[in-house]
Formats: sequence, C-alpha cells, structure tokens
Amino acid sequence: MTDGGSAPAAGAGFAAAKINLALHVTGRRADGYHELDSLVVFAEIGDSLALVDEAPAALAIDGPFGSGLDDGPDNLVLRARDAVAAFAGPLPPLGFRLTKRLPVASGIGGGSADAAAALRLLAGRLAIPLDDPRLTAAAQRLGADVPMCLLSRSLHASGIGERIVPWPEAPRLAMVLANPGVGVATPAVFRRLARRDGTPLPTLPPRPNADRLAAFLRAETRNDLEAPAIEEAPVIAEALERVGAAEGCRLARMSGSGATVFGIFADSDAADRAAQRIATERPDWWVVATQAGGG
Ligand code: C5P
Repeated sequence: MTDGGSAPAAGAGFAAAKINLALHVTGRRADGYHELDSLVVFAEIGDSLALVDEAPAALAIDGPFGSGLDDGPDNLVLRARDAVAAFAGPLPPLGFRLTKRLPVASGIGGGSADAAAALRLLAGRLAIPLDDPRLTAAAQRLGADVPMCLLSRSLHASGIGERIVPWPEAPRLAMVLANPGVGVATPAVFRRLARRDGTPLPTLPPRPNADRLAAFLRAETRNDLEAPAIEEAPVIAEALERVGAAEGCRLARMSGSGATVFGIFADSDAADRAAQRIATERPDWWVVATQAGGG
C-alpha cells in the first residue's frame, strides 16, 4: 500500500493530524457503518510516538493533551501492539512513549494516527513490509480511519474509509486548525445524520493550486457531518464563523466528525495572523497554524 514495501516510512513515529477536506456520506452498510467519499490531507502538526526498550510501563503519555487519556489496554496504541502480536507472534518486551499534541475526540484522527504510528514502528522493528496484508487487515480492524493514517499522505478514501487511492497532485495548503474545546463522539454524530444517500465527490480538478482547490471544495463539496455535529456541539458554528471571517481565509470547514474546524488560507503569513487573532479572542480554544497536503 505504501512505498512499495519493505522500508518503514520516514517519520514512522509521527502521528500526523488527518484533515478531511471534504466528506460525503453516500450510503450505509448492513453493519451500521457509513459509506463515505472523502478527500484527506495530513498536517505537519501531530502526536509523536516512540518505542522504548525495557520500558517501565507499556504506555507512558505526556504532552499538552496527555492528561486524562487512557493508558490501559484499550488505548489504540496498545491495541495496535496486540494486533501485531496476534499475527507476528510474541513481541520482545517494549513499551511506547506517546506525546499527545492533538486534542482528543476532535475529528483530526488523533487516536487513529497514534495506532497507525504504532503499526509503522512495530513493522519497522520486526521487518514487516508496510503493504503486508496482515498489517493492512489489522489497521482496518482497529478503526475505519487507521488505514488512511497508515499511509499518512494526501489521498481519496471511499468504502468506510479503507478504500484508498493516493492523491499525489494535492497542493500544499496553509491552514489554521481551531478546536473549540469540546470532544465529540463520532457515533453520536453519525446517528444524527438526516440523510445517508449523499452524492459522491465530483471529479477533482487536475493539478490544482491551493486557490483553485479551495474554490472547488467550496463550490462542489461539503462535509455531511458538519450539520449533525453542530447539533451535538453548537460552538462548532462559532469556530466556523471565526475561522471563515479571518482575513485571507479561502474555505472554512469542519474535519471528520468534529469538533476541529480547518481554514485554508491564502498563504502561511495570513494563516499565522488568523491563528494568533483567534487564539487571543478565544484563549480557551486550541488554535494552530500549520501546513498540510502535498503529494
Ligand atoms: O471505526 P471507528 O471505531 O473509528 O468508528 C467509530 C464509530 O463511528 C463507529 O462505531 C460508527 O458508529 C461510526 N462510523 C461510521 N461509518 C464510518 C466510520 C465510523 O458509521 N465510515
């Protein structure tokens, strides 16, 4: 699936934030999962995960969003370890150190990206190719977004998120991410969907620059989870307004099931200024300027 195989990806221990530029809900499967059509990019900001030999704990967590996060066997990092052990045999004694920089339950992949980083690290340690079907199957079982986080490059996803086509023509995007400090439970947002038979994504413009892509996304695409997420957490509407009203913003939209909102900006100076301003106005929010996308 990635890199054609044997070597683990560079930045194996980096868990980049995932941003759904567009997310169309196109159907619902018999098992209750929803079929999606989504355009996804990854940001320069993310969590970090390291393998620790002779670790005192299976999983040690630090970082600005580390407190209160479950470090027990239900954490996706340890579930990823168990999933690898289930097909590769007993692992040597090792632990993980997770530096949590991304807000939890926030629509930008956090836990899924951490699980994918654990899979990449263990694959590197055990010389398992990243396109080994057992690794891909383990990623799918861990969560619908884990396979895309395993690739961690711009992509088009369909199915429930597991059918992935790389999007090497994606432009680099100057972005602001703003999370208004509320965690949103993904199943609750899906349950509130009024319609589950949306149109798929239209054909993408070939080799778009950032402005052209933002105009296309704005005119032709949407995040179908935005309205139900705002019902769950009305402050998301304020985040969309604040990001969208900032000078140089080309598109403001929610990522995933929220509550994080992203803005695509004219350039990184505009993104920096907007992030500073929003952070000053709403000091209780998590606001960062970052780059995302590229092939
Ligand atoms: O796979 P994951 O554990 O990340 O999904 C969390 C929940 O989100 C699922 O239990 C399901 O309710 C919902 N979901 C969905 N359709 C998807 C992805 C997630 O209905 N494609």
